[in-house]
Amino acid sequence: MKFCNDTLEEFLWTKKIKSVNKKPAKRTTPCIFGTLFLGGTSGHGRSKIFNFLKIYNPKIYRLSVSEKIKSFKVAYKLIENMLNDDLNRSDCIISFGGGILGDLSAFISSLTKRGVKFINIPTTLLAQVDSSIGGKTGINSRYGKNLIGTFYQPNLVISDTNFLKSLPKREIICGYAEILKHSLISSKKFFLFLSKNWNQILNLKNFYIQKAIHKSCLIKKQIVELDENEKNLRKILNFGHTFAHGFEGAKKFSKKSKLTFCIT
Ligand SMILES: NC(=O)c1ccc[n+]([C@@H]2O[C@H](COP(=O)([O-])OP(=O)(O)OC[C@H]3O[C@@H](n4cnc5c(N)ncnc54)[C@H](O)[C@@H]3O)[C@@H](O)[C@H]2O)c1
Repeated sequence: MKFCNDTLEEFLWTKKIKSVNKKPAKRTTPCIFGTLFLGGTSGHGRSKIFNFLKIYNPKIYRLSVSEKIKSFKVAYKLIENMLNDDLNRSDCIISFGGGILGDLSAFISSLTKRGVKFINIPTTLLAQVDSSIGGKTGINSRYGKNLIGTFYQPNLVISDTNFLKSLPKREIICGYAEILKHSLISSKKFFLFLSKNWNQILNLKNFYIQKAIHKSCLIKKQIVELDENEKNLRKILNFGHTFAHGFEGAKKFSKKSKLTFCIT
């Protein structure tokens, strides 16, 4: 896993993004991006992404986001649609949305044609600091959350703090809770920084939010690189999850249950 500090604009327009893709053989248009999954995401940054992707003529699927879409039924339907649209192995699936969409589209990417390229553009704080990093894909089962999934690393993750500007406060708090979790796992100094500057972070002040995201990703990266398939050390990243997933399951994955956990 490598980090780079380009802004989204620099990144897109220098077209580094191209390096993970090859022109698919069958298509007449240079459809480098075969498929784009969009969540209920609006606002900052979205038009920039769209304008850039337009030249690649992506097939766009819009999904209304809730935990219910993390299901076999939805995954199967999307895969069948993509195959019908002639998706091939040099195409790339892009997720543009929060962790729910990221988990589902990563899952689909890992299965379709035994694995196609995957780019994650996380638009929630939680997804930027946690779910987009580490290669866990997942859907839910009636026996619990994220019980079905694969390990499948994305080719690229693009995080831009501008996306967070349209995010409701409660979602920012949920992301902050994951950042706090990472600090508790690994760095007292970082925990003290987060405790002292919580207000600037929740208000998305550039220096503070960027530092919080970067450090949080770094902590997760270091742990994942030592134990990618969660045989041992990586389990530490799940702390709090057993209780929280049980709680969310009991509340039928309602949004309210997510926030309740974050602030406890
Ligand atoms: N794969 C992993 O390692 C991992 C780790 C942690 C969590 N997760 C999963 O992540 C999921 C939760 O992700 P989440 O917290 O991002 O929730 P989410 O995907 O539901 O997004 C939260 C809400 O914010 C909206 N939204 C997204 N981006 C927005 C934006 N920029 N502006 C305005 N609204 C926006 C979404 O439409 C949604 O309503 C859970 O399913 C959880 O299991 C996975």
